[in-house]
Amino acid sequence: MLIPLDESTPLYRQIYAAIRSAILSGELAPGSRIVSSRQMSRELAVSRNSVLLAYDQLLAEGYLDSTIGSGTYVSANLPDDGMPRPVQRPAMSEDTPVAVSKAAQAARTALSQAVRPRAKPLAYDFQYGLPNVADFPHELWRRLLIRRARQRSAQTLAYAPPAGLPELREAVALYLRRARAVSCDASQVLIVNGSQQALDLIARTLCDPGDRVVIENPHYSGSRHVFSVAGANLVPIPVDHDGLSVEIGERTVKKAKLIYVTPSHQFPTGAIMPLSRRIALLNWAEALGAYVVEDDYDSEFRYVGKPIEAVQGLDHKHRVIYVGTLSKTMFPSVRIGYLVVPAPLVEAFTAMKYVNDRHTAMLQQHTLATFLSDGHFERHVRRSRVRNAARREAVISALRQHLGDRVQIAGENSGLHLLVWIPELKAAAIPELVEAAEKRGVGLYSVLPYYIGDPLCAGVVLGYAALEPDQISAGITLLKNALNSLRR
Ligand SMILES: Cc1ncc(COP(=O)(O)O)c(C=O)c1O
Repeated sequence: MLIPLDESTPLYRQIYAAIRSAILSGELAPGSRIVSSRQMSRELAVSRNSVLLAYDQLLAEGYLDSTIGSGTYVSANLPDDGMPRPVQRPAMSEDTPVAVSKAAQAARTALSQAVRPRAKPLAYDFQYGLPNVADFPHELWRRLLIRRARQRSAQTLAYAPPAGLPELREAVALYLRRARAVSCDASQVLIVNGSQQALDLIARTLCDPGDRVVIENPHYSGSRHVFSVAGANLVPIPVDHDGLSVEIGERTVKKAKLIYVTPSHQFPTGAIMPLSRRIALLNWAEALGAYVVEDDYDSEFRYVGKPIEAVQGLDHKHRVIYVGTLSKTMFPSVRIGYLVVPAPLVEAFTAMKYVNDRHTAMLQQHTLATFLSDGHFERHVRRSRVRNAARREAVISALRQHLGDRVQIAGENSGLHLLVWIPELKAAAIPELVEAAEKRGVGLYSVLPYYIGDPLCAGVVLGYAALEPDQISAGITLLKNALNSLRR
């Protein structure tokens, strides 16, 4: 029992009053057992005598009963019927207003916009970011986790280095050099809890409130939330067929700390930034003295054309902070991501991670290090790329077959989602379409949360990785019915 003690009155009186009031308020129910005086004196860090004096008083007044050898209990027949009850605190609900920081207010807004899990799953849910449970080698992951968990030692159970397990940093650096042409060594890699924490560390390490941060418009709302919570001044720059318009940025932005981009598969439009614009982006960042935050969240899944190397690999001026995640290649609840930072920033980022949460959980890090270095990860990515390619084919052909030129498909050459524009509907009609689809068992997700301002027409982000081709085709047929139901 927690009893706040001070020096205003003798300790035994305070203990007596707190227990009595807990009994009278019903917090300690009649007949319930009270901890022994020895235990209570340890919990409160007071002498046992103070506790014994309080217990004796409560026994004498009939609040407590004790049976030798079997402990002390709240009396079943309480005295004091006529005694005033302790003041009842007014009930507090979660809606009771409280004063919180500006950062918490911005975080609340972010949470209120989060997609909530449905009480009853929909048969055809096109939610972006849902993993396909069947794709991941769970049995293998379970075996590796157990093997690792058995290796207990004082060292594996103690606090660990904030930047991450050295073997894992090494394995990630090797993978990124090979698969993404990222130019780095292990000392620049930090292991974090998903890209969300990577973005948070970037904002905390490099931004002060009021600093300008360039974001894409439309953009990944997870990044907007982090920069808003940090008190940054967001500067949205439009996206065209080639991603963030560097030209507009150069014309309109003369000062910024960060430029956040998703160049290999712009979220949510799917635009892929060509080499010439990547170089222009680096030059612009250099001119501003800003860092480019390259969020490379799903480039493992590229279906058409040859892989494009990361912007980080083109950077000779140490201006790029590279962010990656295992949420798409493994599953989101694993909560592991990585940051590659220029050498001069390693110490500041490591310190920020240390202050934030000491380090990412070690059991997962050890398991992942083996998963990567034994080749399981890349094997799994290769297999799921083939499966996701079939799902992507299914969604494109179902859209063409059932909706033809009533829809425009964007961003289909990479990743795990595509964007479907519906020119016959205004942006304001999206909620109606989402509702009509839901009635038919189809989960649809509006593009609006990713925009500052409105797009020219209605659009939905279709995540297809969690569905199999036959479900996708059935879901798109129902989407057509939903769309037709809105036609007047
Ligand atoms: C652009 C972008 N970045 C990052 C992520 C992944 O975030 P996390 O690693 O925090 O799960 C997503 C996933 O939805 C995303 O769309």
